[in-house]
Amino acid sequence: MLLIKLGGSAITDKSKPLTSRVDDIKRLVKEIAGFQGKKIVVHGGGSFGHIKAAEYGLAEGYKDESQKEGICIVQRDMRVLNQIIVDAFYEVNVAVASIPAGAITMFDNGQMIKFPSDVFSHYLELGITPITFGDVVVDISRGISICSGDDIMLQLAKDLNVEKCIFVTAVDGIFSNYPAGGGEKPLPIVARDSVIEFKSEDVDVTGSMKRKLDRMFDIASLGSKVYVMNGLVPDRLSDALKGNEITCTEVSGD
Ligand code: IPE
Repeated sequence: MLLIKLGGSAITDKSKPLTSRVDDIKRLVKEIAGFQGKKIVVHGGGSFGHIKAAEYGLAEGYKDESQKEGICIVQRDMRVLNQIIVDAFYEVNVAVASIPAGAITMFDNGQMIKFPSDVFSHYLELGITPITFGDVVVDISRGISICSGDDIMLQLAKDLNVEKCIFVTAVDGIFSNYPAGGGEKPLPIVARDSVIEFKSEDVDVTGSMKRKLDRMFDIASLGSKVYVMNGLVPDRLSDALKGNEITCTEVSGD
């Protein structure tokens, strides 16, 4: 089984609120549709999630009434983005079932404590591709939390028999220095002891690139193959899905 995360930077313009990269989404979905095996698609929020979640302080938990509006806005916006992706699958005749994280998962103090991966397995048995996404979720001690697509990738990799995880981003892979200035080549492979300079602190409510990479190491340690690749280059994802060699970074669990 394969897990694909469509990162927010590949499917939205992260700097402009509510701006989806519709053409890239349609192309990526077509590339995914060409892969016949079992797969689960997870997507991030990009400018449909992070901007308003940060504005309403949702990552810090439920503190006051004013956040109710923010919870509602972010959940709505994430569903709007999800619908764009679901429609793209529908257009290429791939049956998908949308499973919003906010409806099924529970957190405690910022950590996922409940996630029904068996629901995903049942859809897969029916030949239906489950699709889920980062979301505002309930948290039993903090009221609410932001569940990232990366949290979901890790949980699915823990619970199901996942051979490969592909993180589709807007860059070629993981670099030795951040911010990556462009022009340089990604590291072919990274391990926990690789020296990587994370200089920039980005505004993502679910954490910096470092935190995302830590999640990837956790997944790789479970035995799944993990790759980070650029989804903005046409055919790169379909090449990866065919098992062809591509420009990317492999994340090692060692
Ligand atoms: C973020 O999910 C979800 C919300 C902010 C509601 P991710 O953290 O997985 O999103 P990207 O991929 O970084 O945009």
